[in-house]
Amino acid sequence: METRNKKTKSTEYYINQTLKLCDLPVYELDMSSFLLVIFGGTGDLSQRKLIPALFHLFLEKELIKDFSIIGLGQTEMTDKEYREFCRRAIQKYNPENYNKSRCKAYLEHFYYISGNLIENEIYQKIKSKIFQLAITNKKEVKSNIIYYLAIPPKVVIPVVEQLNRFDLCKGIFHSKVIVEKPFGRDRKTARKLNKLVLKAFEEEQIYRIDHYLGKDTVQNIFFFRLSNTIFEPLWNRNYISQVQITVAEDIGIEGRGKFYEQTGVVRDMVQNHVMQLIALVAIEPPVGFEPDYVRDEKVKVFHSIRMMDEKYLESYMIRGQYGPGKIKNYSVAGYRQEEYVSPDSNTPTFFFGKFYIDNWRWANVPFYVLTGKRLPRTLTEIYIQFKFPPLQLLGRSAQKMEPNAIRIGIQPDEEISLHLNVKQPGINNQLVWVKLLFNYEETFKKKQRPAYERLIMDCMKGDLTLFARQDGVEAMWSIVDPIIQWWESHSPKDFPNYPAGTWGPPEAALLLEREGQKCRYKDIF
Ligand code: BG6
Repeated sequence: METRNKKTKSTEYYINQTLKLCDLPVYELDMSSFLLVIFGGTGDLSQRKLIPALFHLFLEKELIKDFSIIGLGQTEMTDKEYREFCRRAIQKYNPENYNKSRCKAYLEHFYYISGNLIENEIYQKIKSKIFQLAITNKKEVKSNIIYYLAIPPKVVIPVVEQLNRFDLCKGIFHSKVIVEKPFGRDRKTARKLNKLVLKAFEEEQIYRIDHYLGKDTVQNIFFFRLSNTIFEPLWNRNYISQVQITVAEDIGIEGRGKFYEQTGVVRDMVQNHVMQLIALVAIEPPVGFEPDYVRDEKVKVFHSIRMMDEKYLESYMIRGQYGPGKIKNYSVAGYRQEEYVSPDSNTPTFFFGKFYIDNWRWANVPFYVLTGKRLPRTLTEIYIQFKFPPLQLLGRSAQKMEPNAIRIGIQPDEEISLHLNVKQPGINNQLVWVKLLFNYEETFKKKQRPAYERLIMDCMKGDLTLFARQDGVEAMWSIVDPIIQWWESHSPKDFPNYPAGTWGPPEAALLLEREGQKCRYKDIF
């Protein structure tokens, strides 16, 4: 909103650009030239996601014709060694697309600079490399310059300060910056970070990434709602009795003990991915499908989420930490035994909670959220349950009636199903609960593309729709800050309170039972 009110020339320019570009089919986009500088070019995210995602784009349509990628890292390496490092990452993390000669052609665009990201020296090197690769003799930028900050949150501030000090943000080096989540540690630090980033970049240069928004199945929540007449009239408190959002993972913290000890489940998953899912289910139709219109509506959802007092926090926010257990018959260590984790750590790895959205559409509809590590299976879904018909006219058979429901499977089941009651064939009047199913893979003969591909492309295009805006990030922190503060000031007495391979502490299912709600989780398992 702040951004809309003080609409600057560049904002208008950017909106026009977006309008021109956002609806073009991928193959018609002019992605003629870009330069990507990856801070954290040897890190986990680069190896697993970024470098393979760009390779896939390169393979697919030869979209990217003239591009350069500069990896930055602490380890000393030549360009040749870095190319080999990236080749191994692609082979390991994207084996199905690996093709030796295409990969070689792709990696010819890669360069590497080593050094300490806090020191001046590396920025001098970056600057001269950008001059060499992206600035023409006429001193004009010939490429879209993007800085991807795939670095720990505490390094973001010094890096942005240095980019600014070295004049790498505006003017001739006019660029875009992609910042990974979590953006800050709470509302206060997020605001501080925002202020600092805004000293270096304009808001429309900043891409606060949440990779969940790059998933087709997540974007489809919006498309499904707004392009089908039959659902939207029912999408409110008059017809919906509850929403259950599950983001379950069977993996543990995957060697990220240092990160996770600082983060915990709320900062890692709830503040960002879960809040975005809630927003997409609850959002009002925006004025148009342009970045600020969509983001304005999301922020309104965040502002409408009920503030929680201590009584509420104690009753409806449940935390957990996994102990040793079994996943698919393999024994796995408990959280406290993981590398870089304190043996008496109180960091939560499981969250179950109930939220209310106090607005006209959603008043009194509970949104239950379950997310955690080392649960029996990996599953992200949104389950929307409808109220029963006003009268149960079907005699004894009505006892078997189940509520209508829509299940939006985000992953690994990429599907949307509609659950209905129908008459069972035969001489008895029996109801049976059936489902109508739309499955991505069956319909389109392929799985959804990795989220990072879409988001990096959108950044190149200058489309901010799927990226968080400053006020949105702060609003999301305002929702979760009380939970984090309450938990940090009241140490858990029972950690670890769920064995790896189980659905978290029993309080979660008990809460639903107490509230008379059908427990979706039992059905999944
Ligand atoms: C990341 C979290 O943002 O999302 C991880 O830091 C989590 O802890 C991951 O495992 C889940 O992403 P996805 O796409 O595998 O569901």
